[in-house]
Amino acid sequence: MSNSLSTTLVPPSPAHLLTTANRCPQPSTMVGNTPVLWIDQPFADAGRGFWAKLEGANPGGMKDRPALHMVEQAKARGDLAPGAMIIESTSGTLGLGLALAGVVHHHPVTLVTDPGLEPILHRMLSAYGANVELVTDPHPTGGWQQARRDKVAELLDTHPGSWCPDQYTNPDNVDAYHSLAVELIAQLGRVDVLVCSVGTGGHSAGVARKLRQFCPDLKLVGVDTVGSTIFGQPSRNRLMRGLGSSIYPDNIDYAAFDEVHWVAPHEAVWSCRTLASTHYASGGWSVGAVALTAGWIARTSAPETRVAAIFPDGPQRYFDTVYNDDYCAEHGLLDDDPPTEPATIDHPAEQVVQSWTRCANVINPTEAAA
Ligand SMILES: Cc1ncc(COP(=O)(O)O)c(C=O)c1O
Repeated sequence: MSNSLSTTLVPPSPAHLLTTANRCPQPSTMVGNTPVLWIDQPFADAGRGFWAKLEGANPGGMKDRPALHMVEQAKARGDLAPGAMIIESTSGTLGLGLALAGVVHHHPVTLVTDPGLEPILHRMLSAYGANVELVTDPHPTGGWQQARRDKVAELLDTHPGSWCPDQYTNPDNVDAYHSLAVELIAQLGRVDVLVCSVGTGGHSAGVARKLRQFCPDLKLVGVDTVGSTIFGQPSRNRLMRGLGSSIYPDNIDYAAFDEVHWVAPHEAVWSCRTLASTHYASGGWSVGAVALTAGWIARTSAPETRVAAIFPDGPQRYFDTVYNDDYCAEHGLLDDDPPTEPATIDHPAEQVVQSWTRCANVINPTEAAA
């Protein structure tokens, strides 16, 4: 008697088994198509969570997208000659992306950063072939960021033919995030509220602009750190890196924001650690701050509201800071859990915020001062 099963069942070929795996003919094709993860309790009630776009799944992080795009556009325009040096100021994430772009497009890369750069990241950047230059003193008014930018100007003068992407003003930094918005639409269908951290302003501006073509009523919530100047607070020392600024980058699209939240370092640490232990997905300061804010938005919005939050990187480089008990104890970051909701102010100039605070009146401080 013949066994019909044995004649109809064909063993799957290896290609059939790997239908969802990507083959990357070269390193730049590893960038993009990052997953989204549903985050609910304890950030929001069951069924009332938000979707986290895990940009830490890129080889270097979220800034692989603008690094490649800015380099490719500069090459196409003839601003970056074959083999010329790329010089840029970075707190780290763009540095990883530029190191990748340097490998892919065969350019030497020099990154100017400050003593706050995590030692592990310094080693990684060197391993990826980048030259890392540290500035030693902050600028008297523009802080570390201005000191880094001054050093970049000096290096550009001493290396003829070198090119600086200038992520703070380069519109290609913004345009690079259109792909991320299209991925969100493909993954989620629609987005009602987008929650983004803000540093150069690139990803909030780029993702929101493209998303609004599909979702015109999109609400954009910006997340900044206490001590950052971006949304009209006075400049103070900042522990959190990645988000926040001591200058006013041109790429920030102030008109695009509906609301801003400032988050303190201990609140971001609670959030990062809670994400790691409850969802096995976390990241650094900006991820913690964004998750705290997105959870509150999800809890307080109508149940059907679709909230997406951008997680710019993963946790690895923060194991000596956010995830290090000694570091956190030394900086008093483990003493208090965040409140269940932010304080609210009506104008950024109303008070100097010290902990999680929101303001629905988003101003451009450079225009307000004029
Ligand atoms: C880890 C991290 N999060 C958030 C940001 C802010 O992103 P954007 O510069 O697009 O505003 C940055 C920027 O450098 C970053 O490195």
